[in-house]
Amino acid sequence: MENRKKVIICGGTGFIGSHTSVELLSQGYQVVIADNLSNSERDILDRIETLSGHVPIFEEVDLTDEQACDRFFERHSNTSAVIHFAAFKAVGESVNKPLMYYKNNLQSTVNILRNMDRLSIPNFIFSSSATVYGDCEELPITEKSPILPASSPYGKTKQINESIIEDTFKAENNLAAAISLRYFNPIGGHLSGELGEVPIGPPNNLMPYITQTAIGVREQLSVFGNDYPTPDGTCIRDYIHVVDLAKAHLVALERLINKKNKSFYEIFNLGTGNGFSVMDVIKSFEKMAGQKLNYTFAPRRAGDQAATYADVTKAKNELGWVAELSIDEMTSSAWKWEQNYRRNLS
Ligand code: WQD
Repeated sequence: MENRKKVIICGGTGFIGSHTSVELLSQGYQVVIADNLSNSERDILDRIETLSGHVPIFEEVDLTDEQACDRFFERHSNTSAVIHFAAFKAVGESVNKPLMYYKNNLQSTVNILRNMDRLSIPNFIFSSSATVYGDCEELPITEKSPILPASSPYGKTKQINESIIEDTFKAENNLAAAISLRYFNPIGGHLSGELGEVPIGPPNNLMPYITQTAIGVREQLSVFGNDYPTPDGTCIRDYIHVVDLAKAHLVALERLINKKNKSFYEIFNLGTGNGFSVMDVIKSFEKMAGQKLNYTFAPRRAGDQAATYADVTKAKNELGWVAELSIDEMTSSAWKWEQNYRRNLS
């Protein structure tokens, strides 16, 4: 079994990283998870093992610590690729704590890429975000849409990281190729209900707030604005199932390992290409959960755009990947996870 290709997953106990670890382990890759557990729980490792049938190698490491990062990569230099999910991702928090976001989200990337070059680890996949497009008015958003000023330090770290990656892979180096995957709105959980999002503290995002309200952890969902220029007045987003997203990482990984990439640095939007409003998500949830949700309309949230959704033609044509799971499968899997997670807490 030792001829399995090894992949390092930075941030592999997080929401998208854990689902991607399950997919890679299930496909026979040897997975090494590097995580500092600052925004995730160690028992996620057991869940990854149960769902994939394989044990991931885990090392608790702060990727912003140069020495610790160097030692970690030296222990795992025989690696085919690195997938980098490790980042703080709360938009509002980044406005209040910009230096914490710039240090964590940028220093980790610099340390990872420096070690990949030093040790000739060839392939890199970066967890980027549609937030790099800023307040893009022209919909749907394509990979060639203008990169406008990001609305938060979090979004700026994604923009800066993409530049760091492009410039590093363009320069003379011991690297091969990189892909940035720009996620739209990842939601849901593993279809088994045994893995999902574990928000630390009050959720910033819609889906965990819905499920925590429904299970009684939160009193009521505030719908931030119902006076937007959209059919029902609430904001439209391109929600994508986290399992579809995880499968896209496997496709991107195999593109690089099999040298099917068409340039040293490629970018792909990962969404469904469909926009759903906040009310659409609530209605889907109520249908799938078989219960009414306690919500109220509240003032708009600063920084929110009325609508955003992806043009996913490039991922379809180049990667041969399309999102397959529906909004109902997103809301039902999110609910299944919330119920399982709370049951395990009690
Ligand atoms: C979705 C819609 C809210 C909470 C952010 C980041 C993005 C990515 C995903 C990290 C909006 C409304 C929300 C609530 C609400 N994060 N809402 N009540 O803001 O589109 O994207 O999360 O990668 O980079 O920018 O997602 O889930 O916060 O909001 O009405 O309690 O739900 O106003 O219209 P967003 P979200």
